[in-house]
Amino acid sequence: MNQDQLKQLVGEAARDEVLKLPAGQILGIGTGSTANCFIDALSAHKTHFLGTVSSSNATTERLLKHGFKVLDPNEVDQLPAYVDGADEIDPAGHMIKGGGGALTREKIIASMANRFICICDSSKQVPVLGSFALPVEIIPLYKGIVARELAKLGGMVTLRMAKETRTDLGQTSSQPFVTDNDGWILDVAGLKIADPIALEMQINQIAGVITVGLFAKEKANILLVSNAFGVSRITF
Ligand code: A5P
Repeated sequence: MNQDQLKQLVGEAARDEVLKLPAGQILGIGTGSTANCFIDALSAHKTHFLGTVSSSNATTERLLKHGFKVLDPNEVDQLPAYVDGADEIDPAGHMIKGGGGALTREKIIASMANRFICICDSSKQVPVLGSFALPVEIIPLYKGIVARELAKLGGMVTLRMAKETRTDLGQTSSQPFVTDNDGWILDVAGLKIADPIALEMQINQIAGVITVGLFAKEKANILLVSNAFGVSRITF
C-alpha cells in the first residue's frame, strides 16, 4: 500500500469514528492531505452534522465544494471533536504540526474541542519529536529578533519560502510563505524535544511568536494510525 492509500484508509476510519457521535453536532476539521481524505470520505454523510468549523482557507474551500456547512468559530461554543493530521506524534500523543502552515487556526479550533482525533499513517509515529523541523508562525516585522531567540534553543532556524514562481520576464522569484493570518513561518530543525510541554510554553513566551507548532497542551486524545495491516486506534 502506498502513502496515499494509507491516508485514504485512515480517512475512512476517522469517518466511521465521528459517525459514532450523536447526529446534529458541529465538527472541527483540520488541514492537510490526510484531513482532505477524511473530508472526502465524510462528504456522503455530511447531513449527520449540523456544520463544521474549519482550520484553514484551503479546508474551507474543500468543505464548501463538498456541500458542508462551514460555521464561524466565534459563533460556536464547543466541539465534540476535532479531526486533523500531524507531521509527527510521540508515544504520549504530543504532536508537531504546521507542515502545511495552518498551525495557528488548527491550535485554536483544537482548543475548542472535547477530543482531538489525530489521523496519520505510521510514518508519523516517532519516539521523540524533532526530526521534522518545528514550525513557528511569527509576525513578519520581527523575523530577525524571533529567529535569534529561537536559535538559542539549539536548532537551525530557516524562514519558510513559498514555491518559486516565474515572473513575466522569465526569472524565478522566491518570496516568504505567507499564512492565512498574514504571518511568516520559521522552521526550527535539529531539535530533540524531550519535554514538549515545557518547550511549547517557552516558545510561547517569545515576543513576536504567533503560534508554535508543538501541540503538547492540545495533544491528541485518540490516534487513528494506518499501516499495511490496517488501522489501529490508540487512546491517550
Ligand atoms: C497543516 O498545517 C498541518 O498541521 C497538517 O495537519 C500536517 O502537516 C499533516 O499534513 P499531512 O496530512 O498532509 O501530512
